[in-house]
Amino acid sequence: MTEARTQPLLQVRNLKKHFAMRGAMFSRERPIVRAVDGVSFDLKEGETLGLVGESGCGKSTTGRTILRLEEPTSGEVLFEGRDIMRLPRGDMRALRRQIQIVFQDPYSSLDPRKTVASIIAEPLIVHGLAQNKSEREDRVVELLETVGLSRSHMRRYPHEFSGGQRQRIGIARALAVRPKLIVCDEPVSALDVSVQAQVINLLQDLQEKFGLTYLFIAHDLSVVEHISTRVAVMYLGRIMEIAPADELYARPTHPYSQALLSAVPIPDPKAKRERIILKGDVASAVAAPQGCRFYHRCPFREPSCATNEQVLTPVSPGHLVACQVRTGVHGDGPTAASGSGAPVPARAAGEPEETNSKNGAAERTRTCAVLPASTSS
Ligand SMILES: Nc1ncnc2c1ncn2[C@@H]1O[C@H](COP(=O)(O)OP(=O)(O)OP(=O)(O)O)[C@@H](O)[C@H]1O
Ligand code: SF4
Ligand SMILES: [Mg+2]
Repeated sequence: MTEARTQPLLQVRNLKKHFAMRGAMFSRERPIVRAVDGVSFDLKEGETLGLVGESGCGKSTTGRTILRLEEPTSGEVLFEGRDIMRLPRGDMRALRRQIQIVFQDPYSSLDPRKTVASIIAEPLIVHGLAQNKSEREDRVVELLETVGLSRSHMRRYPHEFSGGQRQRIGIARALAVRPKLIVCDEPVSALDVSVQAQVINLLQDLQEKFGLTYLFIAHDLSVVEHISTRVAVMYLGRIMEIAPADELYARPTHPYSQALLSAVPIPDPKAKRERIILKGDVASAVAAPQGCRFYHRCPFREPSCATNEQVLTPVSPGHLVACQVRTGVHGDGPTAASGSGAPVPARAAGEPEETNSKNGAAERTRTCAVLPASTSS
């Protein structure tokens, strides 16, 4: 196999995006918001990485910086081995065809004054992908049918559609340029639960049909469960845990991931999971704590967590966790084992994963490495 085939489609390396704080325009020293503060991950062709975390943790900024809708403060983003951040504007425009975005709010992302036909045709015109009007129209119809709409919808305006249909239009527009990677920024968060499932199924069908790769952003783990190949859990500008999806749902290891997962309902009515309610709000990205960023809300914190830099450390193949208590490792080296701070092997208390379904999602039994996550009644 050649180098080109084996390298990930996308490589994000220590990506940072810091903003001068909003609303502080007239202060002499505008505080800095560390929206994304050292994010790294790879994305292989055809896979879906779910990126989850509470509001304000930097998910959208990560997505937007990868597309260079925001210029990064530092770091690297390689697409098919080419550093996006160092591409001249002209080359970036050509590359933008390969990377598209689908937004959360399909209404505000569609121009209300334009018909569906002209919204979908716009990228075809910008990138010179249709020779003439009739070719363009044929392609628009093809795209509408691909997302479950039809020719009859062409001359209508966004306000004439339901939320789910509008999101289908947004997806058709993204597909128009035949991208390889789509950043889906909370594409179903504004939709009813029943419609969410339809849109997620559509995205999965399209992925299979066109070999698409997704970075799928969501607030909580339940939304990304069935679509993700891997999941990254983000907190205050950093990734706290990243793992294959089955592994993360079966053995969440970072205390923050465990808390997030404890809020996800289990399909089995007999199974119960203890809900972990996190106290306090997410710390400000302006004054991000030194050491572990989750320190102030963590039920397992130790004094040294407040000062030690936490680094993503492997606990099993492809499963990395940034928590010295769970891995025994922090930025300056191994953690001394003592009392409750003794390193807990990531799988120590976790039951073996039980899966009966094809992808292990539906009948998965979830356990936590440390917390008594589920008990049968
Ligand atoms: N243009 C900007 N100027 C200043 N601060 C910004 C800017 N864009 C984002 N931020 C700040 O960066 C942080 C991360 O924002 P971001 O939108 O990436 O979070 P998010 O995880 O996508 O949140 P949500 O789930 O609410 O969409 C927030 O504190 C936000 O206020
Ligand atoms: S490093 Fe310490 S404070 Fe941070 S998540 Fe782990 S136990 Fe909690
Ligand atoms: Mg967002």
